[in-house]
This record gives sequence, C-alpha cells and structure tokens, in this order.
Amino acid sequence: MDRIRIRGGAKLEGRIRIGGAKNAALPLMAASLLTSGRLTLANLPHLADIATMTHLLAQHGVLIGMDGDIHTGPEGQAGRTLTLSARTVTSTTAPYDLVRKMRASVLVLGPLLARCGEAVVSLPGGCAIGTRPVNLHLSGLEQLGAEIELERGYIKARAAKGLAGAEIVFPAVSVGATENLMMAACLARGQTVLDNAACEPEIADLADCLIAMGARITGAGTSRIMIDGVGSLHGAHHPIMADRIEAGTFATAAVMTGGDVQLDGAEAGTMTAVMAALARTGASITRVDGGLRVVRDANRLEPITLETSPYPGFPTDMQAQFMALMCEAEGESAITETIFENRFMHVPELMRMGADIELQGSKAIIRGPARLRGAPVMATDLRASVSLVIAGLVAEGETTVNRVYHLDRGYERLVEKLAACGAEIERLAS
Ligand code: UD1
Repeated sequence: MDRIRIRGGAKLEGRIRIGGAKNAALPLMAASLLTSGRLTLANLPHLADIATMTHLLAQHGVLIGMDGDIHTGPEGQAGRTLTLSARTVTSTTAPYDLVRKMRASVLVLGPLLARCGEAVVSLPGGCAIGTRPVNLHLSGLEQLGAEIELERGYIKARAAKGLAGAEIVFPAVSVGATENLMMAACLARGQTVLDNAACEPEIADLADCLIAMGARITGAGTSRIMIDGVGSLHGAHHPIMADRIEAGTFATAAVMTGGDVQLDGAEAGTMTAVMAALARTGASITRVDGGLRVVRDANRLEPITLETSPYPGFPTDMQAQFMALMCEAEGESAITETIFENRFMHVPELMRMGADIELQGSKAIIRGPARLRGAPVMATDLRASVSLVIAGLVAEGETTVNRVYHLDRGYERLVEKLAACGAEIERLAS
C-alpha cells in the first residue's frame, strides 16, 4: 500500500486548480440511468470513487466513453469529459461487491426504479464514520408507490405500474435521499414535493443537469423542491461544479502553513461557511478573477467555536481539516459534530502528533498552539486522512500517512498539487 511522506515547515505558495466535485459527479453519473439518450459530463475529477461508479454503471449496461485529452499544466489538471449512454439497461441489480466499496452506489436505486420499474441494490452497510442507514431513501420511494423488501442484505424495490408523485416530508435532512428521490420523481406520474430537502449546492447542480435533460424541477437548493414528472428524459451536456470541499481543504492548508495560495476554479458562492470560519481565524480570503485567494496575514491564529450542520452550515466534510488547523490556534477551540456519530477518528492520530484535544461526546475541545511533531499515522476515512496531511505540513520532522487509498477516493493529484506550491511531500510506492 502506498504511503505519503511529508517534511513539515514549508509555506504553501502558488496556485492550485480545483477539480470537479466528487459529490456532484456521483449522482450526476447515476442520473444517466434515467434516459436512453447520451449524457455528457464535463470537468470530471479523476478519483477512485468515480471509477467505482463507472464500474457499477457499466454492469447495468451503460456505455461509457472518456475523453482522454486532459490538460495538465503546472497548476494542475483541467478535468475530462465522460459520456454515458444507458440505451438499454441490461441489469437492474447493483451487487454487494461494488456497493460495499462506495455507499453512494445506492444512488442508482431511484433512477433504476423510475426507469425500469424494479431495482435490486445491495444495502451499503455502515462505515467508519457511522451506521449510515438508508431508511430515508426507502421510505421516500415507498411514498412514491414503490414496494420495498429487504432480503439477504439487498433492497428489492418494485413499481410495476410506475411511480406516482407524492408530497414527501423528510423527517431528517439527507443529501443522498434528496438526490435519490429527486431523480426518481422526474419520471413519476404527477407532482412530487420534497419538503425538508437538503440544500447542498450539489443538489442544485444535479437539478440543473436533470432540467437540461428535460425534467421539470423548481426549488432545488432550497428545502422545498417541486418536481413535475415527465414521460421520458433526453441526453444533455453538463459541466460538473467545482469541488467546494477540495477548495476548502487547500484553503485550510494554506492558512495552516502561513501561506498565500490562489485556488483557480473555486466557487466562493458555495463556500460561505468555510470562508467565514477561515476569516474568523485571522486569514484573508478574497475573490479573484476565476477563483479565490487565501492568505494568512496575521502571525497569530485565533481559536474558534463551530458546529457542523447541513448546508448552508459548516460542512461535516471540512470538520477534520479544521480540527488540524485549530491545533495551531492560540487558545481553546471547540468543534461539535452533529451529522455523523463517529467522525473523530483523526483525533487520536492528531494527538499522536502532539495535539491537545479532549473529546466530550460529539464535541472536541482543542487547546493550542500545539507543537506538532511528525509521526507515522493512519486514518479510516477520506477527510480524516487529509487532516493528517495538513497537520504534517506544519509538524516538525517527518510524517508518514498510511492508507493513501482513502485519499485517492476524493483528492485528485493531492501530492502534486501541494508539491507545486512548495510542500515537501512525496508518494512512496509500496
Ligand atoms: C453526503 C456526502 C458526504 C457528506 C454527507 C453530509 C456524497 C456522495 N456524500 O453523504 O460526503 O459527508 O452528505 O453532508 O454526496 N441518514 C439517515 N437515514 C438515511 C440517510 C441518512 O439516518 O436514509 C443520516 C446519516 O446517517 C447521517 C445524516 O443522515 O447521520 C446525513 O447523511 P446524508 O446527508 O444522507 O449523507 P450522504 O448522502 O450519505
């Protein structure tokens, strides 16, 4: 297994190109199952999770083409184009072996059911950050008229006469359930209203693509989405939005190292909570032509108190990176995780590097500034892993981050992008 070796101390200075958003790309790819037409997705990030979704869709019969013409400049890569044609759906089963690799595989459930009247999808199971059930997806689909049974670890869904629109009030906010239901409702008879829907920009991006495919959707990006079902959808071309979590991660790393980095392609409008939190630490974040510039002008980093919450709140996917940053702040910070029950796996690893963090249930108290020292570390999920990379950038001596495959799921060319800004970082093949 590959490792990443970092020698801390260098300031990040330069430019980083932000790629297409993983969390937008995955549902957009699943949406290809809704049409026999050709869906073209531009600005596709090159990530392990995208490859997993490609394999899953291919075994459903989706024909997949990739434009291999990738522009690679010193500032990074501009993205590639993916073409998906689900002319005929040859299998409505999403097998365990593929779903267990990536929970977002469950996003094929709504489209398959809506298009084919049936779907058999493996239950994703829990993962390192929590139990992560799919009850909201299933009860929503039942309200659209699906019959659902759970059998031997599989979700068996049927809608022999097609789905019918309904007013669905989600009892809790779920990004994935909102996406699954919005996709399914596009081909349901009549009107569907999704209340207490997730408002994430990735949902608005998905809706934009579905609308370009002929869907009739209003309100996406707010907590009330209305969908008027249509008989069929057609092909479309859609550019995937920029990855706000990748941008936030590099912004945090720039502040951590006292650097000055321009994030090309970052969309400030989707990053308000993260930008505000960084500003409270004393960093300067300005919109520049085509992106964002992040500078740590103050020597001292201010401690902050924050709580993760659904969009437009502070994203849980940025919590671990901020925890690393707060280790450098002068004073006591507090971070409360409200979305996932077990998302603190980076804490013991950061403490092995010298951090002073106390866990009180879902709240972490971070006392800084810590004198972080390099160490061999490992993590059990994507964002926890990257928080250790960020900590390694300022730690004295050498940090080795193991289990790099977690990073490959969500960060394209992470080592190259950081190294291009002056970080002493390399990937070691096993
Ligand atoms: C998506 C993101 C993930 C992000 C998360 C929260 C993708 C591919 N992944 O995950 O990076 O961390 O949103 O912003 O977009 N829940 C239920 N029942 C359900 C569904 C969810 O109880 O049926 C719970 C979850 O366990 C969790 C909370 O609701 O505690 C939010 O989960 P959800 O918004 O669904 O996250 P994902 O869509 O899985």
